[in-house]
Amino acid sequence: MLNYETEATWHYHNGTKHPNGMLLNRFHVYHPSHRPTPYKIYKNVSQIDLALDKTPIGISALDAISTDKIYNDIIPDIGTLGRIFYFSSGITKKIKFQGLGEVDFRAASCTGALYHIEIYLVCSDLPGLGAGVYHFDPRHMKLDTIRLGDFRKFVSNATAEEPSVNQSPAILIFTDVFSRNSIKYQSREYRHAFWDCGTILANTLAITSAHKISSKVITGFVDSSICQLLGLDISKEAPITILPLGATTQEAPTCPPLPEINSDAVASDYEIEYPEINAMHESSSLLTGTDVVSWRHQITMERKNPAKLIPLGKNIKVKEPLEQTIIKRGSTRKFSLESITFDQLSTILSQTTSGINSDFANHELLSDVYIIANAVGELESGSYHFVKEKNALEQLRKGNFRHASGNLGLDQDLPYDASVTIFFMVDLDKILEHFGNRGYRVAQIDAAIAGGRMYLASYALGLGATGLTFYDDLVTNFFSPHAENKETMFLIAIGKKEKST
Ligand SMILES: Cc1cc2nc3c(=O)[nH]c(=O)nc-3n(C[C@H](O)[C@H](O)[C@H](O)COP(=O)(O)O)c2cc1C
Repeated sequence: MLNYETEATWHYHNGTKHPNGMLLNRFHVYHPSHRPTPYKIYKNVSQIDLALDKTPIGISALDAISTDKIYNDIIPDIGTLGRIFYFSSGITKKIKFQGLGEVDFRAASCTGALYHIEIYLVCSDLPGLGAGVYHFDPRHMKLDTIRLGDFRKFVSNATAEEPSVNQSPAILIFTDVFSRNSIKYQSREYRHAFWDCGTILANTLAITSAHKISSKVITGFVDSSICQLLGLDISKEAPITILPLGATTQEAPTCPPLPEINSDAVASDYEIEYPEINAMHESSSLLTGTDVVSWRHQITMERKNPAKLIPLGKNIKVKEPLEQTIIKRGSTRKFSLESITFDQLSTILSQTTSGINSDFANHELLSDVYIIANAVGELESGSYHFVKEKNALEQLRKGNFRHASGNLGLDQDLPYDASVTIFFMVDLDKILEHFGNRGYRVAQIDAAIAGGRMYLASYALGLGATGLTFYDDLVTNFFSPHAENKETMFLIAIGKKEKST
């Protein structure tokens, strides 16, 4: 099966690295005035209003991102779904730029503000909403109606009856519209699909947990079946994650026949294909329910505990409600060189790295977390490896590595000025051996969810943060020998915001 021919992943991953000290394609030009419409537009469908209720429900961001309990028998109503959609992917601010006009910014960070992730809902009859298949329209806070009727069984079949999907009253499906992001990032877009879906999911998991609605990140499903249900052209828009919400005691009923969708929806007003993206997606696809069943085995990462460790500091408690943290979040555009405290870094690390409820790992982060500490209170400047099991740091090298930090983050000022840069690195060979090419999707999204949680934790603590891209192999070299054979999945810089920005 193509999924287990893993040279496809190495071909894509190595072929989309920014070579040492250079951009992948130095001659590619993108200007923000060419930005495609960042919304999928359905023209002739009926729409349903989602009330916009931003009232805090009294859970702080730090609590919401670190609790991942299983709650039973909670059925979300339309009001709660509106809040889940808004705090995941709604418009939280509008900023005017000269020459561009007003730009909508969304609840979660997104590379290039290109907003290429769409969210769909497949549900039973819920309080305030009839059974159907819907698309979230963030511009108007509405749902576009794609199908009426209960089609959950179809999703459940596509996941080979994954139990949480089977009993969920409301299932979210996250898709990626390739060309809306590849216009700027070209073939590297397929990494961004998971980065930008991951930051959204960090918000979704936080808001659902605040509402005591259980959820599970599902990455194993028959891709073509989900495309058929949503009426997607897989060469342009592809499902990448499924998130069942809540639980009932009853399984979804057999579904009505699935007529073809004759949709005039426009997913992107800019179209260009990068064959590397389509090839990587295809080679990581699962073709049948039997493939899904044999694929679905959670992984456990083996890690050695080093002898000498620096215990993390205190966990800081913050009262600010999650909703307020999400609304004020943004990517920091300029860091001051000031220090953050060791307790702030400790809180960020301990609250965001517990892993998630998923079909690929049991609450365990797959990546190893590597750190360059430029200015972190009493912590000696240098490079570190975070040892989650011991809640402690292992020092790799002492020294002032601001220049290296700036250089690894694509020679930008942000990683140079930040107090700390945090790299998520994974033993990709091990992941691919276990999951085949689909392990690439899993490794990327797992790191990005933790990165998204770090965004929220930083803002909850009154700090700033930004995701960054990186020179792949230079990162591995910098953290070697410890990180030998590891590949970087995600990078985030954290620090104090420059006051004037
Ligand atoms: C994974 C990731 C990588 C990013 N890389 C960079 C980067 O290299 N340089 C940069 O200035 N901003 C970077 N950003 C920040 C985005 O440009 C920013 O999220 C986007 O403009 C939306 O703005 P907001 O986060 O303030 O809502 C990145 C964001 C993410 C999520």
